Amino acid sequence: MASVVSSVSPRQASERFIYLVAVIAALCGLLFGYDTGVISGALLFVKRDFSLSPWLQSVVTGAVLGGATLGAGFSGRLADRFGRRRMVIAVAILFFVASLLTGLAPNVAWLAVGRIFVGLAIGVCSYTAPLYISEISPARNRGALVSMNQLLITVGILVSYLTDYALAEGEHWRWMFALAAVPAVVLGIGMVFLPESPRWLVSVGKRGLARQVLAKVRSHKDADEELELIESHNEGQEVRWTELFRPEYRPALIVGIGLAIFQQITGINTIIYYAPTIFQLAGFSSAAQSILATAGVGLVNVLLTILSVRLLDRTGRRPLLLIGIAGMIASLTLLGLVFLLGSHSPALGWLAVGSVMLYVASFAISLGPIFWLLISEIYALRIRGVAMGVATMANWGFNLFVALTFLLLIESFGAAYTFWIYAVVSVGSWIFSYRLVPETKGRTLEEINAEWSH
Ligand code: BGC
Repeated sequence: MASVVSSVSPRQASERFIYLVAVIAALCGLLFGYDTGVISGALLFVKRDFSLSPWLQSVVTGAVLGGATLGAGFSGRLADRFGRRRMVIAVAILFFVASLLTGLAPNVAWLAVGRIFVGLAIGVCSYTAPLYISEISPARNRGALVSMNQLLITVGILVSYLTDYALAEGEHWRWMFALAAVPAVVLGIGMVFLPESPRWLVSVGKRGLARQVLAKVRSHKDADEELELIESHNEGQEVRWTELFRPEYRPALIVGIGLAIFQQITGINTIIYYAPTIFQLAGFSSAAQSILATAGVGLVNVLLTILSVRLLDRTGRRPLLLIGIAGMIASLTLLGLVFLLGSHSPALGWLAVGSVMLYVASFAISLGPIFWLLISEIYALRIRGVAMGVATMANWGFNLFVALTFLLLIESFGAAYTFWIYAVVSVGSWIFSYRLVPETKGRTLEEINAEWSH
């Protein structure tokens, strides 16, 4: 034991601890990914057991997205008032209860309400976890630590596909929903033992506690320097909504909301939610082939997110963002072309699969992690909770919008033009990122904000 203890330097110990903190908080991402992905498989059985009309099917599917939009929009002030850690604990409890509610649902009304609660929890968790991790991380590896949340989102989506697949044979849709209670318990209990965000503590005047937390996650010298830096930028709390529009906060607000919208209207969830439909459109008639290709999409998403986590603090955010969006434009254009050619030759089918994979890979290194990372970095401490809540609300609102309009677009314009519409929107998002998105690599949150307010 003694040799183990002595072989770890204090710096290594604090580094390991900070990774543990990030992984536990990022269980929020796992729940986010799992609960948004699980419905695709569960719906097949729910539809039959409750005799759902197409309208009720979209209610059950959309309930999570609607709940998340509301949850994100109304909780920002709570994260500022009660603290990041307490918010995550409250949300873990909500996830636990809502998972059991949906698993036990005796009728569709109950199920829909349960899914709205799941959505509320996801909406809050989707930004409080990156917020918490960002505020407790050192500048040099903040990109990797915050993006742990996105990594677990992608793992959650993949696990939900696999769980659906494993439980489909026995038609166990209740278990598909209820299993989310397990990570919720680990998240809740884990967070009880983690410290509060030092930046939030400073903002509510708890300097001594902030010093204790920093001493745990930094060397003593770094802790003192960072505390001084945070204090010198602290403007207190209790922000009003209208303050978000103050001239010094406006650029960050525009970048956050702009990226939130672009992350969704460039079409990622048409692939995540409708991959089997797309593969069938491309000529894969067997369900087994579609499922396999869908699992492939999930795996590519995870693997390329790992690559992004490794690169973010080395290459910086901007190069990855611009390269990734360029890849999205190319793959969407190709996908549209495959659909335009439209014959059901196997080669074209595989080209469709290839373009979908390239698209997901490009998203996974860019807009996927970088949107959530940047909104945790660009706002001043004083408005951070509220402003992140607003950006997250826009993200979920447009997620819902795309989910509701995708099949309509396919019906009205056909698949080729639908994907080209997303390609054109992606060009807009590239120009937006090129002109407005700042590089935040290696700088403290305070340095980033100081520069922006000029
Ligand atoms: C997005 C989700 C998307 C997921 C896919 C997240 O960053 O916000 O809408 O489903 O990435 O990996």
